[in-house]
Amino acid sequence: MTSDQSTISVRGHVAGPAGTTRLFAAGSGDYGSHQAAFGPLPAMGRAPLIDELSRSGLDGRGGAGFTAWQKVASVPADGRRPVVVANGAEGEPLSKKDAALLHNAPHLVIDGLLIAGQSLDAKELHLYAGAEQLAPVIRAFKERGEARIRLHEAPDTFISGEATAVVSAISGGLPIPRDRTKRLTDSGLNGRPTLVHNVETLAHLALISRFGSAWFRSVGTGSAPGTRLITLSGNTAGARVYEIPTGLCLTEILVSTGVDPQAVRAALVGGYHGTWLTAEQLDAPFSREGLAPVGARTGAGIIMTLGSGSCGLAATADILGYLAGQSARQCGPCTNGLPNMASQFARLAYGDASGRLPQEISRLAALVTGRGSCAHPDGTARLALSALMAFASDVEAHLRGRCEALQ
Ligand SMILES: Cc1cc2nc3c(=O)[nH]c(=O)nc-3n(C[C@H](O)[C@H](O)[C@H](O)COP(=O)(O)O)c2cc1C
Ligand code: SF4
Repeated sequence: MTSDQSTISVRGHVAGPAGTTRLFAAGSGDYGSHQAAFGPLPAMGRAPLIDELSRSGLDGRGGAGFTAWQKVASVPADGRRPVVVANGAEGEPLSKKDAALLHNAPHLVIDGLLIAGQSLDAKELHLYAGAEQLAPVIRAFKERGEARIRLHEAPDTFISGEATAVVSAISGGLPIPRDRTKRLTDSGLNGRPTLVHNVETLAHLALISRFGSAWFRSVGTGSAPGTRLITLSGNTAGARVYEIPTGLCLTEILVSTGVDPQAVRAALVGGYHGTWLTAEQLDAPFSREGLAPVGARTGAGIIMTLGSGSCGLAATADILGYLAGQSARQCGPCTNGLPNMASQFARLAYGDASGRLPQEISRLAALVTGRGSCAHPDGTARLALSALMAFASDVEAHLRGRCEALQ
């Protein structure tokens, strides 16, 4: 992702229950504003932190949505001092929220990393992000005289932020996924237990450590507490980042950010590894539980809308082409399966359609799923299959040589 700082502004926050401006409450990225808004850095032992995180219901904001307290608790307390990593790679082209966070509230991310590190008696702390996102962090380090955290530049690739790729890059290796059979919390960087959290997860952790789980839960829903950052793009002019109460319905999010749901044909939810939802499915709440019945996930908080004059098959073909080119070419499903699937999809989208293409795409999707060393083939296959479902009538039209969206 290339991101010019001027495009990473945090626009107006979504209208919703009071108190939804949390991560950006300091109003600016400087240390004085940060301290005035949030007070001093709290100290928390391992057990109280795990307890508070458990009560808060915080889940990871890097994509997989894994429960935060369980991940922290899975770092063994066996005398080996662990490593904690803040992951701000944000390789997903549709996501800008981590960049917005690092530019507008770097001290909150630093706090989260320091609190987690101190709770676990970590030996090393690392922050990994693209070069443009490291700049505000370096400024923040100077302001507070921070010297304990090591910084690493993440390359601008889709897979560079996958947790094992992060650990590989930090250890001086290639930024590509490694063996996923080993749990990083058992054996990660240089064999040490390694906790990798997304930068947004750590920023919430910093607030929960200060203000408690009840405060965190005072916004959002029972099963989806707190706030989360989302990146909205598509019908709107460019990508915009918002902090929203978790669990708002997709239509509520659209309306409150000035997007007319009537002008939305479909939405890609969860990013390039996500799921297309039809206009009829947009009343689903944007949370793990709310999206599960429609087969979608929040991913890294991404919503991309598709306007009425746009072809969902063409949009999907373009994304699949990009994803097929982003594999590390270590595993067969990525090296052979994804380019094949992307080219079959491009034929369907761009006019060289034959009756068997949808079946062939489905066959290839099934073939690559679960076969890689990381979840890249699975996510890419999920996107292709969801497009065939959400745009079923477009598929029919394309097979007859027409495109309904572009009529
Ligand atoms: C292909 C791929 C790319 C990923 N890219 C990122 C990323 O850029 N940033 C991120 O935080 N997590 C990314 N993840 C998820 C990480 O593997 C990991 O789950 C996450 O950093 C853990 O943080 P969390 O528990 O706070 O969500 C990616 C996963 C996959 C499969
Ligand atoms: S599945 Fe693909 S992206 Fe993941 S490690 Fe294998 S080749 Fe790389």
